[in-house]
Amino acid sequence: MAKPIKITETILRDAHQSLIATRMTTEQMLPIIEKMDKVGYHSVECWGGATFDASLRFLKEDPWERLRKLKDGFKNTKLQMLFRGQNILGYSPYADDVVEYFVQKSIANGIDIIRIFDCLNDLRNLETAVKATNKEGGHAQIALSYTLGDAYTMDYWMDIAKRIEDMGADSICIKDMAGLLLPYSATELVSAMKSATKLPIQLHTHYTSGEASMTYMKAVEAGVDVIDCAMSPFALGTSQPATECMVQAFKGTEYDCGYDMNLLGEIADYFRPLRDEALESGLLNPKNMGVNIKTLQYQVPGGMLSNLTSQLKDMGIEDKFYEVLEEVPRVRKDFGEPPLVTPSSQIVGTQAVMNVFAGERYKMVPQQSKDLLSGKYGACVKPFDKEVQKKCIGDTPVITHRPADDIAPQLDKLNAEMAQWKQQDEDVLSYALFPQVAVDFFKYRQAQQTKVDPAAADEKNKAYPV
Ligand code: CO
Repeated sequence: MAKPIKITETILRDAHQSLIATRMTTEQMLPIIEKMDKVGYHSVECWGGATFDASLRFLKEDPWERLRKLKDGFKNTKLQMLFRGQNILGYSPYADDVVEYFVQKSIANGIDIIRIFDCLNDLRNLETAVKATNKEGGHAQIALSYTLGDAYTMDYWMDIAKRIEDMGADSICIKDMAGLLLPYSATELVSAMKSATKLPIQLHTHYTSGEASMTYMKAVEAGVDVIDCAMSPFALGTSQPATECMVQAFKGTEYDCGYDMNLLGEIADYFRPLRDEALESGLLNPKNMGVNIKTLQYQVPGGMLSNLTSQLKDMGIEDKFYEVLEEVPRVRKDFGEPPLVTPSSQIVGTQAVMNVFAGERYKMVPQQSKDLLSGKYGACVKPFDKEVQKKCIGDTPVITHRPADDIAPQLDKLNAEMAQWKQQDEDVLSYALFPQVAVDFFKYRQAQQTKVDPAAADEKNKAYPV
């Protein structure tokens, strides 16, 4: 029986986030989407993750406007976004009213599939986003952050897959952000999860350790429904396996998806000069294009590695790189062995840097570490180390309920704060996520519209507060 593979194309989101710091512009995307729309992709991932922040901060683009333009072009293809559960696209939890409104507006502006994950795999942090997606008629996919460790047994993955099905999600994604899933482990994991749930299962991985396309092949043979790939010019290295290569590998088999290789070739031809340009400008570092099996040893996602490198550089302790890398798993263990993905990757990474920098463990403790240890991000798979917890937070009360239950509605207050900048309903959401960055963008936008300089626009707004 034929069971053609389905592919989610990531070149408009994860691929350029992984390789060129999320700097692909809307203008660079638009000319090719008519062709991409003809491929027959399961979906195109094009929004969320870091694209929102990067659009506002670096590209001076309105992310909502990008979404509407993509929706105009992709007439037959489902658009997909990445959503950090209760943290939305930010780095800390928001109130339910903000999460619900963000989901509503994402779908209203063109998103079909919302891939929702939590950095601790605490499903309580996904409830609000999943319910809101169901309510708005979107496809709610829950992504499990894949990681290794004593607690992450087959029973753990099977049990959580069942609970996801009970929550009302439409599909499950295994999100392997660091490229840790090996080919034969994929056989075991996919088979186990398939036996635990009827929901479709999608696999997302990165090429970082060099295993990814083999992992996909074994996962497909084990019955995985969808794989995430990127067109070859922005594939491999810290990105995904190449779309054309995966399609070709299954040609003539029961998994053949029937995509037109000539069409894929034309799409690759379009993106190749963009890669060359990025290489020339230094935006694309050739280091990110290779593979490194040591990824499996440190289990640190690519984005986290580059953050660590720049933190160490800022503090003038670049020579401590390997010491920090060895401290990372120890901190992770003390913190209840969470997966390492935004924001837990930053929290654990920064704490490891502090421990090495201070020469004494947990002498310097950032607020985010304290919040994690007091339960404000949710529950980890294992308990926190009691001694470490005591040293970091003292007698601060620890919460065990869903963290967002303690967050009062925020929308009214946010609306009031940013009223002077509002040109569309969605602006309050940009402001909610990145207040300073959004205001800088709103000033820029206004200056462009009135053709005056941003400082003058600033003055104008001071003079006429709304
Ligand atoms: Co990814």
